[in-house]
Amino acid sequence: MGDRWYSEAVVYCLDIDTYADSDGDGVGDIRGLIGRLDYLARLGVTCLWLHPIHPSPNKDDGYDATDFYNVDPRFGTLGDFAELLHQAQNRGIRVIIDLVVNHTSDEHPWFQSARSSPDSPYRDWYVWSDTEPDDRHQGMVFPGEQNETWSYDRTAKAWYYHRFYKFQPDLNFANPEVRAEIKKVMSFWLQLGVSGFRMDAVPFIIELTEPGNPNSPKDFEFLTEMRQHVQWRRADAVLLAEANVEPDQLPTFFGDSGSSGNRIHMLFDFMLNGRLMLALARQDPEPVIEALRDTPALPAGGQWATFLRNHDEIDLSRLTAEQRNQVYAEFGPDEDMRIYDRGIRRRLAPMLGNDRRRIELAYALQFSLRGTPVLRYGEEIGMGEDLSLPGRESIRTPMQWSFKPNAGFSTAEPEKLVRPVIDKGEFSYEKVNVTAQRRDPKSLLGWFERMIRTLREAPEIGSGATTHIDVPMPAGVLAHRADGPTGTMVFLHNLGTEDVEVDLSMLAPEADLPTDVLADRGYGEVGKLDNLKLAGYGYRWIRLCWAAKI
Ligand code: NOJ
Repeated sequence: MGDRWYSEAVVYCLDIDTYADSDGDGVGDIRGLIGRLDYLARLGVTCLWLHPIHPSPNKDDGYDATDFYNVDPRFGTLGDFAELLHQAQNRGIRVIIDLVVNHTSDEHPWFQSARSSPDSPYRDWYVWSDTEPDDRHQGMVFPGEQNETWSYDRTAKAWYYHRFYKFQPDLNFANPEVRAEIKKVMSFWLQLGVSGFRMDAVPFIIELTEPGNPNSPKDFEFLTEMRQHVQWRRADAVLLAEANVEPDQLPTFFGDSGSSGNRIHMLFDFMLNGRLMLALARQDPEPVIEALRDTPALPAGGQWATFLRNHDEIDLSRLTAEQRNQVYAEFGPDEDMRIYDRGIRRRLAPMLGNDRRRIELAYALQFSLRGTPVLRYGEEIGMGEDLSLPGRESIRTPMQWSFKPNAGFSTAEPEKLVRPVIDKGEFSYEKVNVTAQRRDPKSLLGWFERMIRTLREAPEIGSGATTHIDVPMPAGVLAHRADGPTGTMVFLHNLGTEDVEVDLSMLAPEADLPTDVLADRGYGEVGKLDNLKLAGYGYRWIRLCWAAKI
C-alpha cells in the first residue's frame, strides 16, 4: 500500500442505530457494531465511515447534534467508542466519523444560550438578522420539507439562518471562536483515534452569510486552516468532504489556485454518481466517458470518493431535465420513489429490478473507476427499500443479518425498533440476509468479497491514472484502463443486453500474460485480446501486465 492509505481504501458507511443492537432496546449500538467487525474484515472493508455519533434529538437522523464531544447515549459511551477504535484497528480497519458542524441542533446548549440574550457569549456563534432578510425564501436544500432559510426566533427577537431544516441553525464561521472550537472538536476525536472526518455540507460551512445576499462570499481559507490543523494533529488523517457543487468549483475545494492540494483530500464524486445512473438507465456508457473526460485534474494527493448509493437521495439535479426524466422513467417511475424534485429515495438492487447481473455490473463498474469506493451497508447483500417510510428513511432500514425475528438486528419487540425491518416481498429479511448468503458461495455477498479482494490486488485502480480506451466498441460497452506503478489493468463493462465481441488487440504489445481476474463468468483465455467475448450485462477485469515481472 502506498503512503496515502485512503487512495487504496474500501470505505463502508453505516448508521450505528440501524446496524446491530447488542442490548435488545431496539436501537443499534457500538457494542453491536464491535460484534460485526469480523464480518466487515472478511468483506474486505478497510475504513468505516460512521454517520453522526453524537447526542441528538434525531430530527435529521443525527445530523443535528447537541454535543460534539460525546456519543449518543443510545449508542453507548465514549468508552465503548474507544473500544470500537481499538477493535477496528486490530483488524486493520480505520474509522472516520461524520463531522456535522455547519449547524447544530436548535437544542444545542450553544444555541439555547445564544437565543436567550443578545449578551450571551454564544450569541455571535450563530448567524442573526434583526430584520427579515429579503432572501428568506431562497437556497432551501429540502424543497417540499423546508420553505425558508431564515426563521424568526421569538425568544431571540431576531431572525436566524439555517441552510437546512429550521431546527438546524447555522454556526457563524466568521467568528474566530467558532473556528477555534471546531478545531478543538476535531482534535478531540483525532486524539481518541479516528482516522479523519466525513465533512458534512462543506460549501455551506465556508459561506460567510450576509442577510439578503443569496450569493454570500465563501472563505476557502478556512478549509486550508482546518487541513493544516488536522494534519499537525494526526499526520495520516483524512478529510472526505461532501461538496455537491458545479464541476468548475471543485478544484478550489482540493487546494488553492497553486494546485497544491492543501485543503480537502477526498471529495465525493456527485457528478460521476449522476452520470453513472444515467449510463445504467440508458444502457449506454457515454455519460461515464464524459465524466472521465470532464473530471478536473486533481492536485497531488487529491482523490475522488465514488459511490452508487449513500444515505441520502440519489441527487440528479446536475443532469438536464431530459436526462433526469430518463433516469426517473427507469429507476423511479412512481411519484413516491422521488424526493425533493431532484432525486430518488431507493436502494440499488430494487432500482435494477433485483437483476443480479446488473447489480454486479454496476458495482464492478463503480469499484473499477478512479477513486476510492464507498459502499453503503446492506448493498453487499442487495437490500431493498421501504417506501412506506417517510422521506429518506426508506433506505435507512435495519441491516438484515439472519432469518431470526427482526432480521437478527435486535431482540426487541418489533414496535420498539428504531425503524421497521423489511419483512415483505422479495427484499424481505427472510429472503435477503447475511446468514443465507454466507452459506451460499454464489451469493452477492460472496461476490462482493471476491470483488473487493481482487480490487486490493490491483492498486492501480485507487492510486493510478484511469482513462477511457478510445477505440471502436460495440454499443453499450465501456473499455477503460488503470495505470500505476504496479502495472496496468483493463476493464470491459457491457451496460447493454446484447452479447458482444471486443477487439483490444492494439493493447497486445503492452500485455504480459493478460488474464481475467474478475468476470461475470468464465470466458476462457484472454489470448491476443482480439476476440474478447462479453455477455449482455457482462464485465471483465483483465490484468494486462504487472510492472515487475512476476
Ligand atoms: C448532508 C447529509 O448527507 C444529510 O443527510 C443531512 O440531512 C444534511 N447534510 C444536513 O446535515
